[in-house]
Amino acid sequence: MFISQLAIDFLLVLAIYVATPLLLLVGLSRLSHLLEVSKLSPVHVYIAGCVSGIVLVPILVYILKFAARCLFVQKDETDHALYRLDHGILNIDMPPKTLWMNMGYWKDTSDFPAACCALLNELLVSAGILGREGVPPTDLSNDTPLKLVDLGFGCGDQSIYLTQRMKRTSRRNVDKVDHQPRRIFDAYVGMTISRPQYEFACSRLYSNHDLDKTKIRLYCADAATPQFWSKDIHEVMQNPQTEQGIEFATSSLKYTTWVLALDTLYHFIPSREHIFSYAFKELHASIMAFDLLLSDKPSIWDLILLRIVSRFTGTPFSNFLTVAQYKSQLVAAGYDSSKIDIRDISEHVFSGIASFIERRDGELKIIGLGAGRYKVAGKVFKWWARTGIIRGCIVIARR
Ligand SMILES: C[S@@+](CC[C@H](N)C(=O)[O-])C[C@H]1O[C@@H](n2cnc3c(N)ncnc32)[C@H](O)[C@@H]1O
Repeated sequence: MFISQLAIDFLLVLAIYVATPLLLLVGLSRLSHLLEVSKLSPVHVYIAGCVSGIVLVPILVYILKFAARCLFVQKDETDHALYRLDHGILNIDMPPKTLWMNMGYWKDTSDFPAACCALLNELLVSAGILGREGVPPTDLSNDTPLKLVDLGFGCGDQSIYLTQRMKRTSRRNVDKVDHQPRRIFDAYVGMTISRPQYEFACSRLYSNHDLDKTKIRLYCADAATPQFWSKDIHEVMQNPQTEQGIEFATSSLKYTTWVLALDTLYHFIPSREHIFSYAFKELHASIMAFDLLLSDKPSIWDLILLRIVSRFTGTPFSNFLTVAQYKSQLVAAGYDSSKIDIRDISEHVFSGIASFIERRDGELKIIGLGAGRYKVAGKVFKWWARTGIIRGCIVIARR
């Protein structure tokens, strides 16, 4: 049913005109009774009426307008509201082509998936697995098999990128089975704590028939507490095998193992300590991570605000460590301090993601949507960019 804005306004006015005398009638009859019983003076009742009116009238108007909007689609001569731009929601690709979810590296892009992938590349370059030109450095083109333990793989975009797109460059490195250039990682074990993300990633990865599924294993588990992992997970982490017991790389092959944590370690409860220790002692692995660190001189107000923010973001406040504290946690796990490198890349992270969320919110509004809870996240990133209280860092700890 379509009626004009004029008609909605008319109905609203009519409702108010009908309701007001009725309320007055009831109100007046109650008022004399109230004054008698409560012994309140008419002045007090008048003041109470004014105060409650200030609160109640806008609420009443809002409720009436909302109800009118729900009942009738607005339409007038100049605005053909039936056909605006909100049918954009019917044209959006579902599921979206990518579902990256990290803070991104915005130096050379303003596109979200590209920035997310660039952050991963920045980690791989820092670890020496990728050259600046986007191809693996030649010294990687030897026969050393690489194993990647990917903690917090999100919806699998990075799993697809790391296991399918990235190939070794040397002609010598041709896969014996499919005669294609060999993939960079000979074994990939991914883990996420989120069940829906795990299921989504599985459906994306395992539906690909070209994929050698025996070499790619995904798990849904808490990466912060290896002591509670199942036996199966420990076995695959330490000596990857298929369920049928066929090794996908013979145990005589010595893996070089990397643990990747792309924008995830600060969530770990109770701390990063268990996984650092497990990576060093059980996996004999190097670590590459994008992580959040605390500035050396935060103001007291910023610290109070950060405590509040950490409550709402599932991040233990105690996980915000300074560079020195972070390094000593890695050293306590066994890593050599001379082989730890922490590089601050905040300038290419926080302002980029904050501006992107703001821009995306505006774009979504055109089709009647909005950035929702990510708007608050955008404000937090803006605050971090302005004050520098939180630093976005690349952490490399070599075994
Ligand atoms: C900011 S997202 C990053 C996702 C992904 N790395 C990306 O770049 O798109 C953080 C991810 O860490 C995962 N995560 C958080 N705490 C975790 C934990 N204790 N164990 C495993 N995964 C965890 C979340 O499920 C989420 O997918």
